[in-house]
Amino acid sequence: MSKSKKILFSLTGSIACFKACGLLSELVKKGHVVQVVATHGAQQFIGLPTLEGLSGKKVLTDLYSAGDAMEHIDLHKWADFHVTCPMSAHKINEFAAGLGSDLLSTLFLSYNFEKPWFMVPAMNPHMYHHPITQNSIAKLNELGVQFIGPDSGQVACGYTGLGRMLEVEQILTYLKHKEVV
Ligand SMILES: Cc1cc2nc3c(=O)[nH]c(=O)nc-3n(C[C@H](O)[C@H](O)[C@H](O)COP(=O)(O)O)c2cc1C
Repeated sequence: MSKSKKILFSLTGSIACFKACGLLSELVKKGHVVQVVATHGAQQFIGLPTLEGLSGKKVLTDLYSAGDAMEHIDLHKWADFHVTCPMSAHKINEFAAGLGSDLLSTLFLSYNFEKPWFMVPAMNPHMYHHPITQNSIAKLNELGVQFIGPDSGQVACGYTGLGRMLEVEQILTYLKHKEVV
């Protein structure tokens, strides 16, 4: 088994949150310490008890939460790397615009690019091909963010095209290849 890593694992509002739980579970089973951050959007798709049960830690959701108010800066110091899975079109565009409307986007705004940040997009193909999303992806790539996927295929809403989240095994293979897990 690889050395235990400290992983910041964030989820955003996508129907693929259920799939992301598989990745979270695998990382924990492999002995990594995983701190979950869930956006308000993510919480519409997956319950906090599930995320807490899988990670074994309290899930962080709120920028202004008493006692955790400095997490939007301190989590970077704690973590070896960050993975956002699933990564919504909204958060891609919000990050690229430099907005800090919640805990996760403020974390990105306070990110100094020294540690890897992987993002696993999951969205409808029209959202993925939208020129604003494509511009934002290009901007984040240029900044050093590492996108894993998306895949082409049928997405949950029935459309077929690019935007489908990669399978857990494919994401793990990518992270192993990058030697972070
Ligand atoms: C049923 C449903 C499924 C959705 N699935 C996705 C998705 O897979 N990808 C995506 O980018 N947005 C999806 N959305 C839209 C996001 O949830 C919405 O843009 C939200 O504001 C994202 O918030 P967040 O990025 O702050 O988590 C979906 C919305 C609904 C109602």
